[in-house]
Amino acid sequence: MNKSIAILGAQWGDEGKGKIVDLLTEKSDAVIRFQGGHNAGHTLVVDNKTTVLHLVPSGILHSNVKCIIGNGVVLSLDALSEEIEILEKNNINISGRLLMSDNCPLILPVHVAIDKARETKKGKEKIGTTGRGIGPAYEDKISRRGLRLGDLSNQELLLEKLSELLDYHNFVLKNYYNAEIFDPIKMYEKLLLQYEMYKEYIVDVPDYIENLFENNKSVIFEGAQGTLLDIDHGTYPFVTSSNTTVGGIFTGSGVSPKKLDYILAIVKAYTTRVGAGPFITELFDENGKILSERGHEFGATTGRERRCGWLDLVALKRSIIINGFTGICLTKIDVLDTFKKIQVCIDYKDNLPIYKEYNGWQQSISGINNYKDLPKNAKIYIEAIEKFLNVPIDIISNGPGREENIIIKKFF
Ligand code: GDP
Ligand code: IMO
Ligand code: MG
Repeated sequence: MNKSIAILGAQWGDEGKGKIVDLLTEKSDAVIRFQGGHNAGHTLVVDNKTTVLHLVPSGILHSNVKCIIGNGVVLSLDALSEEIEILEKNNINISGRLLMSDNCPLILPVHVAIDKARETKKGKEKIGTTGRGIGPAYEDKISRRGLRLGDLSNQELLLEKLSELLDYHNFVLKNYYNAEIFDPIKMYEKLLLQYEMYKEYIVDVPDYIENLFENNKSVIFEGAQGTLLDIDHGTYPFVTSSNTTVGGIFTGSGVSPKKLDYILAIVKAYTTRVGAGPFITELFDENGKILSERGHEFGATTGRERRCGWLDLVALKRSIIINGFTGICLTKIDVLDTFKKIQVCIDYKDNLPIYKEYNGWQQSISGINNYKDLPKNAKIYIEAIEKFLNVPIDIISNGPGREENIIIKKFF
């Protein structure tokens, strides 16, 4: 029996992680975010009702589950407040269930301003960030200049640290970017108010998780973004600023690698990417449009149109090496329902894809719950992917709804 499962994006994000975390949370006791911030947009569809989460872990719809934000997450208290407000309006109770580490680096409004100013200055060369201040907040963490949630508990020291931090950033904003600067006192006062609201959410996360394990509870580690956006292993510099791959779990939550039982790759049955950067199987033709339209490929955070292309097995092989996936969840396979021919990239030559072609099934497969009921050509497509990657496909997702899955292996 698995006591801990990691759920990680194997491509460029938006593979359907949120949906699968919600699904597997039914049998689990806690969900832990360990990296990224509110650049993530995780969509859950339950009884035709859509919930989009950015910072709050995707276990929140299960009322008995703890949702934990680990030290690796960059935390915007403004974004958290907005998200909690929406959840509470929808009668989802957060109190006593949302827990967070006092080591979380804070995203301040100044980080958002730097993120945006930098992208504007880069012009055509921009990364296409979500503009949420993620990169600048992680920079401040690494430079040891940043504030952490726990810093808000010491009022005197806080003002000193914040003034120093703003001194530095205001200089850059004013002199390099010719942008607006920030007032430390205003920011300080707001942070103190926010701390009053959130101090009761703080726990010692490593200790808390250890306790869960000691009490035989099961946990899910919820990845954000995807392997190819990893700061070290992704398509640098067109990446996010955290480790989205398996190693991020340990540094970002304070849990030992020995505790991880199963690493699940979320793989979209084709490929998408938001923002700039290389994308070898990208399509600019009618097929790309079909993927975009049938897959509703618009960003859950920024609403930007996602770039679409065929499945890239070469990139996925790399993703498997880095993460050591135990199994795969293949998502959005229903999006391919109408294609007569489907291409899969099995090699590159001179940075161009070499494809193998498969016949489509040209019928609706959404909502089928048994593998045996899939059309023959869908099985051929799925089994070819499994064989090439040499990792078992343990779940197939064939619709956005919580129930729209073929579960091949039981997880808990
Ligand atoms: P995440 O960031 O990995 O959690 O993924 P997003 O929520 O950003 O994007 C996935 C989108 O696809 C969401 O709109 C989901 O509701 C939807 N989705 C997830 N799984 C499936 C599936 O199997 N089929 C279809 N058609 N849509 C899906
Ligand atoms: P989820 O968790 C897809 C992309 C941005 C940009 C790059 C850097 O929903 O899969 P950042 O704001 O992080 O500095 O932007 O990373 N990006 C994502 N793309 N899904 C995400 O999250 C993403 N989070 C960031 O589009 O290219
Ligand atoms: Mg997303």
